[in-house]
Amino acid sequence: MKQFDVTPVSARLAEKPVSLIQFARSAGRNMLEVIPAETLRETYVRGPLNIHYICDPEMITELLVGQGRSFPKAKFTKDIIGSAVGNGLILSEGDKWRQQRRRYSPLFAARNLPVMARHFAETGTEVAESLAEHPGPVDMAQVAPASTLTNISRVIFSGNKEVSSEQIRVGLIAYFNYISDLSLFDLMGLPKWLPRKKWLSSKAPVTTMRDLARQVIEQRRAENRAEPLDFLDFMIEALKTDFEDKETTVDNLLTFVVAGHETSANALAWGYYLLALNPDMQNRIRTEIRSARPDGLIEFSDLEAMPLLRAHVKETLRLYPSAAFFARDAADSVEIKGVKIEKGDALFYPVYSLHRNQKLWDEPDQYRPERFMGPALPRGQYIPFGDGPRICIGAQYAETEIMVLMASVLRRVNFSLGDAPMPEPVLTFTMRTSGPLILEVEQA
Ligand code: HEM
Repeated sequence: MKQFDVTPVSARLAEKPVSLIQFARSAGRNMLEVIPAETLRETYVRGPLNIHYICDPEMITELLVGQGRSFPKAKFTKDIIGSAVGNGLILSEGDKWRQQRRRYSPLFAARNLPVMARHFAETGTEVAESLAEHPGPVDMAQVAPASTLTNISRVIFSGNKEVSSEQIRVGLIAYFNYISDLSLFDLMGLPKWLPRKKWLSSKAPVTTMRDLARQVIEQRRAENRAEPLDFLDFMIEALKTDFEDKETTVDNLLTFVVAGHETSANALAWGYYLLALNPDMQNRIRTEIRSARPDGLIEFSDLEAMPLLRAHVKETLRLYPSAAFFARDAADSVEIKGVKIEKGDALFYPVYSLHRNQKLWDEPDQYRPERFMGPALPRGQYIPFGDGPRICIGAQYAETEIMVLMASVLRRVNFSLGDAPMPEPVLTFTMRTSGPLILEVEQA
């Protein structure tokens, strides 16, 4: 039998200080290349200029949940994502943000998840069947986003009389291609007059998607369904008691589409890879799934009986956090654990390094889902969804989507490693694979 190195692939961070020009050049391609490797060994690293890299759980908690909780999202994030999602929940600040967060929180409540899970299970069953019928090498870096795209079509854009599902599919693909070209660091460190990739390319996919979203929202509003049957119905329900203008609703619909697509897809792809690398764990998880729901659609309530699968998803998001980096601008001067942060400084949270920090984790680069089956970790050590008031509003939704899709697929098929080289993690907009992720698929 073939022997594999079971250490999961990792990223190469910057071992030497990076000049501003190198920074600007590599960051657009792979932001992980400019994050100092020291952030894997130390919990606080003072970067060049006014940058602080923070991997200390207490400092993180103090900044995201405590005294720095109202520090705004870094301006460069807004410059980049703003072109695609406008001023919805993810980018707004102050009262506008507070009102939107209050308005949309009920939409993501646990009571709505069983309805969403039913749609995810239908997608999962289709994906499982198609994989089982076509055994052999499969690029899971394509299958995973295709399944989250199908979910989005199902829970937001389905049942439309005026807009065909093909129009939606083509529109979404063009829109996601536009977004995947965005890089969080494209604008950083560069003089404002330099032309940027995105400023040169057409915004047509965004305009098309906004038009489609507007039509879909209006048509569904007019339908006025008695009982919410999907995500869009829940969204419209939330707006019945707390109104917002039409363009903000389009901003928010697209915010949910963008925030939830690539993030969940990456977690799925990396999760399948880790299981191919760890066949024993894959078999144990399959047994767990089969005893919870041997056949038929996986239901939301079944997930409670899948603690191993849940721990696997958590460990996947530790090793490969989709949002591997986020940032804030310091709105005030503060001192935390002896570190002086001046007003205007940049606070960088390199989640990738935090989750693999040698001072915080045993065997940080190894796959050990059991770490999530014992006592809770100290706050601030594991933050795939952020923390504090701006914590991901879709965290439970994402966990449900990933678990239902994975459970449906793993019940039917087995993943193993073939001869194809494995991709590396690359961080542009989210942390994805550097190329195809070819796994061998066979009926389980
Ligand atoms: C594995 C999947 C996901 C990951 C890893 C993830 C991660 C994150 C992180 C780290 C943040 C906080 C960023 C910051 O503090 O600057 C965030 C915010 C957000 N996420 Fe997610 N997310 C995921 C899925 C989703 C889904 C499925 C949705 C919606 C359907 C969603 C909607 C949002 C929104 C709207 C915000 C902004 C919340 C606010 O500022 O109040 N996310 N996400």
